[in-house]
Amino acid sequence: MTTSITLIRPDDWHLHLRDGAMLQAVAPESARHFSRAIIMPNLVPPVVTGAEATAYRDRIRAALPEGAEFTPLMTLYLTEDTDADDLAAAHRDGIITAVKLYPAGATTNSASGVRDFDKVRPVLERMAEIGCPLCVHGEVTDPEIDIFDREAVFIDRILDPIRRATPGLRVVMEHITTKQGADYAQSGGPDLGATITVQHLMLDRNDMLVGGMRPHYYCLPILKRREHREALRAAATSGNAQIFLGTDSAPHPTHAKESECCSAGCFTAPIAMSCLAEVFEEEGALDKLEGFASRNGPAFYRLPENTGTITLTKGDPITIPAAVTLGEVNVTVFDPGQPLHWSVTA
Ligand code: DOR
Ligand code: ZN
Repeated sequence: MTTSITLIRPDDWHLHLRDGAMLQAVAPESARHFSRAIIMPNLVPPVVTGAEATAYRDRIRAALPEGAEFTPLMTLYLTEDTDADDLAAAHRDGIITAVKLYPAGATTNSASGVRDFDKVRPVLERMAEIGCPLCVHGEVTDPEIDIFDREAVFIDRILDPIRRATPGLRVVMEHITTKQGADYAQSGGPDLGATITVQHLMLDRNDMLVGGMRPHYYCLPILKRREHREALRAAATSGNAQIFLGTDSAPHPTHAKESECCSAGCFTAPIAMSCLAEVFEEEGALDKLEGFASRNGPAFYRLPENTGTITLTKGDPITIPAAVTLGEVNVTVFDPGQPLHWSVTA
């Protein structure tokens, strides 16, 4: 029986760090196990210019513990007014790694997102030219479409047409949650990548809704049926190089989660690697964890692999910390509701 595994130090290819007091509280949690992360730009107001990305990067660096080796990889929030020259300069100067597309209204702080996809066509063409990847929140916002179908419909109505119209555009399907997403991502060729979160590998909608509603499992895209979770687990453990980890760790204050209108997001950063080791072991695929967490992402983003390692050791079930707190900030830590036997020991 395997009781210890050592991996190239992992990266998180989709992370929300927020700003201000929340940033101070959560940044150390990601820096502990991850070397780099793609930082989501959905602040209020969003990060839309190269100058704003530089300033936000500096605030993140300042929030890291002394000696932490963690590189925030910045993104711009695509709007219908995005300036292609500013974007290209930020990419050329290494300030941004990617650009994020939120359909307007799809999720938390997405009001400034894109309504008319034709309006961003010239920017997407420029991104294809300069090799800047587009990270996509893939859900339609059409109120006629059921929330559980929004990802599958997005692929047909928006994503596939965008990719056909913009050859060479490198796209990451962020946090895929369906069999349709997994199938599309695995057949899309080298210019298409996809990230998968911890919670979508561990939970389905029954976990969120049966026997009471669990707000800490509510995220977007919403948890789907069991069969979709199985398809995601198969994709993550397949060894397919286009599929990699993006935790989508999305902290909200505990009071905002446990409220009349619960905010979307699961705060998984502190226990993401323990959760993943459990999943990959259950699937008999511990040998695929390094690819998913540490190798496929850098390969897609054309970055070097990390040089350090982490070691996970199996033992008695770990105690999941209830919350991360700092001053007034209290964020409940994701608890998958099953024992976790792996902990990061080095
Ligand atoms: O659950 C989510 N939370 N999904 C998103 O797309 C956004 C995120 C957030 O920013 O809280
Ligand atoms: Zn996200």
